[in-house]
Amino acid sequence: MKIIGTGSALPEKVVTNDMLASFLETSDSWITTRTGIHTRRLLSKETLSELAMTAASLALESSGIAPEEIDYLICSNVANSYVTPSLSSIILGPLGCKCPCTDLNGACTGFIYALDIADAFIKTGRAKNILIVAAEEPSRFCNWHERETSVLFADGAGAVVVTEGEGFKDFILTGDTHTDVLYYKRSLETTPFDRVEEKTVPLVMQGREVFKLAVRSCIRDVDTILERNNMTGSDIDMYLLHQANFRINDSIREHLEQPKEKFPTNMQKYGNTSSASIPILMDELSRAGELKDGMNVLLSAFGGGFVTGASILKWSGIEYKEKSEE
Ligand code: ACO
Repeated sequence: MKIIGTGSALPEKVVTNDMLASFLETSDSWITTRTGIHTRRLLSKETLSELAMTAASLALESSGIAPEEIDYLICSNVANSYVTPSLSSIILGPLGCKCPCTDLNGACTGFIYALDIADAFIKTGRAKNILIVAAEEPSRFCNWHERETSVLFADGAGAVVVTEGEGFKDFILTGDTHTDVLYYKRSLETTPFDRVEEKTVPLVMQGREVFKLAVRSCIRDVDTILERNNMTGSDIDMYLLHQANFRINDSIREHLEQPKEKFPTNMQKYGNTSSASIPILMDELSRAGELKDGMNVLLSAFGGGFVTGASILKWSGIEYKEKSEE
């Protein structure tokens, strides 16, 4: 499998740390030194499905594949205001795709999970062209009266078109049960048979625990995938890591003893957009000409569950009609 098109879309509304400090007990210096985040984009006028559609349309356009040639649409999404229909069903028709569609929730690792599933579909001949759209609005899960999580998360969408080819070398996916370290619990309708009325619990995160789990598991995944492909950290030209916290990514970089230039970031501008963070970064780098034909790229992410994923691929250059402005 290889990637032949990319796209991304972000909300218009830019929210600075100072804007948050005007109603939360926090500060620009706390947020930037602890996380690396300076601004984030939050949904205000747009809807998540509009962002997903824009990212998907850009990915389709750059791939040269028509919507009706897509054999499967996979959306990576943790939650949005619709429980049903799925986000993929909502955007399928307007995009002009005529194929099966499904959503998956792999938390912030969802994009790598979706790539792995697409790879299996393509290898087994079940599909040739697959559109993957990671669209997330985690800002809608946070408690905006508390500073703990609301300063970290943000909204956005990234998409890729994949097809048969020799790009992806390997995937590692892991799962483990650590429900208490990161969860958002939605209340559903009560029935006459319910004993207790459940309340929605906005995102709860044990930050230090997540930090340690993230560093430990990403290093384990990266070491394993490099070793089993007879590669070292130096063989990778670009590391596209989940954009949650620059200190997590810096710990991985220090472990690998690789230069900062190989670890591009955009969390400073966009915050943590969950599973959309890697495809947004990928799209920006590819459109800017920084991801070049033949480069070895390593993807690695972690997310609530706890789930993790990593992959190695050789990048194939994509021709874009227009260069991205950012
Ligand atoms: N502003 C100001 N102070 C704050 C804030 C805030 N927004 N949030 C917490 N604090 C305070 C705490 O109350 C604490 O105060 P105390 O010392 O008086 O008790 C102090 O800052 C330090 O808190 P720590 O939790 O020790 O801070 P830490 O250095 O661990 O940083 C952070 C917290 C940024 C959350 C860090 O633990 C982290 O990044 N964890 C990983 C989070 C993450 O990656 N989440 C997303 C993963 S999930 C995903 O992407 C799927």
